[in-house]
Amino acid sequence: MSETQQAVRKRTTHQGGEVVLEVSDLAVSFGGIKAVDGLSFSVHRGEIVSVIGPNGAGKTSAFNCISGFYRPNRGTIVFDGQQITRRKPSYITARGMARTFQNVRLFSEMTVLENVKTGMHSHLGQNVFDAMLHTPRYRRSEAQCAEDARGWLDFVGFRADDELLVTQLPYGEQRRVEIARALATQPKLLLLDEPGAGLNHSEKNELMGLIRRIRDLGVSIVLIEHDMGLVMEVSERIVVLNYGKEIADGTPEAVKQDPVVIAAYLGEEEE
Ligand SMILES: Nc1ncnc2c1ncn2[C@@H]1O[C@H](COP(=O)(O)OP(=O)(O)OP(=O)(O)O)[C@@H](O)[C@H]1O
Ligand SMILES: [Mg+2]
Repeated sequence: MSETQQAVRKRTTHQGGEVVLEVSDLAVSFGGIKAVDGLSFSVHRGEIVSVIGPNGAGKTSAFNCISGFYRPNRGTIVFDGQQITRRKPSYITARGMARTFQNVRLFSEMTVLENVKTGMHSHLGQNVFDAMLHTPRYRRSEAQCAEDARGWLDFVGFRADDELLVTQLPYGEQRRVEIARALATQPKLLLLDEPGAGLNHSEKNELMGLIRRIRDLGVSIVLIEHDMGLVMEVSERIVVLNYGKEIADGTPEAVKQDPVVIAAYLGEEEE
């Protein structure tokens, strides 16, 4: 574990049990469609919570509201004790929330290492003069930055060449790079939008291990995922959405047996 990884762990594990994220009565609509309609849930420090539901249930829209990409019509979001409702994504990231996207979003013209380094620029503590004049401080922080980025790539199990352009990587490796970049921001909370999509069986098993190792750093995780095997195995709690509404919130055992949840999924299969 690198120094930065230890720093994340130290910062995030010393206050066990408290609520990191509190979403209350969240709603957003598009035209006549209520994508999210009165969603409330909370996430505790070091907890793994999954958000599941049929296609179009509003899972990604909820993530987009929480991370500042959408402006909700209603509701409040409190993150780490502070109101972040309708704040910009950059503000929310700087407060310690990171996310990945349903369709991987990386800088395609940059190498793997450069992509991960973009995650840590808010923590660099150097100024424009240092950069222009290539001062020792600048060179030191750049070297440290590359070392930390490589540390996160190791942590997520990235095995290819970090000097490659991200577009030259297989999909599974791109997903790892995106998680590494999110971790490089040293988040307290990580939102993962379908990290298992497009992965094969062994990659999914590795993903499960990775999610647990991220949590073991003390980072709270909210996971959107369609693979029920993965969800049931890794989640401490599951929130179920259907047509923008929350239909269940409970342990994997309770949710699996909930007739309302079963009906929502059977309804999807009949379509
Ligand atoms: N920017 C947008 N403009 C218009 N409609 C949107 C927008 N974002 C989401 N929606 C609509 O909101 C509803 C919920 O979509 P959302 O992507 O949140 O669902 P989801 O649960 O993530 O589905 P999936 O499992 O397929 O990813 C859908 O009807 C979708 O078409
Ligand atoms: Mg989605």
